[in-house]
Amino acid sequence: MINLNIPNMNTKIAVLYGPVGGNTEKVAKLILEKLGAEKCDLIPVKDAKIETISNYNSFIIGGSTIGTHTWSHTNSSEDWDAFLPIFRKADFKGKKVAIFGLGDQLAYPNNFVDDMRIIYDIVIGKEATVIGQVATDAYDYNDSVAIVDDKFIGLPLNEDHEEDLTNERIEGWLASLKDQL
Ligand SMILES: Cc1cc2nc3c(=O)[nH]c(=O)nc-3n(C[C@H](O)[C@H](O)[C@H](O)COP(=O)(O)O)c2cc1C
Repeated sequence: MINLNIPNMNTKIAVLYGPVGGNTEKVAKLILEKLGAEKCDLIPVKDAKIETISNYNSFIIGGSTIGTHTWSHTNSSEDWDAFLPIFRKADFKGKKVAIFGLGDQLAYPNNFVDDMRIIYDIVIGKEATVIGQVATDAYDYNDSVAIVDDKFIGLPLNEDHEEDLTNERIEGWLASLKDQL
């Protein structure tokens, strides 16, 4: 018998996020709530494997920026630190990725949501199609490496000082992604 070896693709959206226990997880759970558990799976990066990437075609990937204002290290989230070597090996060809990032432009105006760029560069380097870019106008910040072609490469969220805006920001963003993921 010939084994065609067709992978059993999961048709849901993988909401891949880290770290657990803070604002990023809070937002990931909100996204799940809004999209519905029948449409997406919540996967902390600390539990993710290379197969997690190969099994899905659509991703919402999120993290927080902690400490990159010094750029002494690339990402101080331990969950992401542990996952990055696996993430860098994954193939994103033909896959769609939307990115969200937790940050705080009031406390870190020069490095607002910088770490979204780490995720972006990796998936773009592995031929993903990145969707869900966001206009910069609605954010008062000084600088960010998470801007490409005058737009944020994903959805910036500030749970420290703009918590009241999170819900509508997520809803607007998910509406813009509708039928794309
Ligand atoms: C030590 C420290 C450094 C931070 N550095 C940045 C930064 O460079 N840029 C930014 O936008 N936010 C920065 N933040 C804000 C966090 O990204 C924000 O609080 C986020 O909501 C944390 O999410 P988490 O609880 O999921 O890690 C920093 C926060 C801390 C505590």
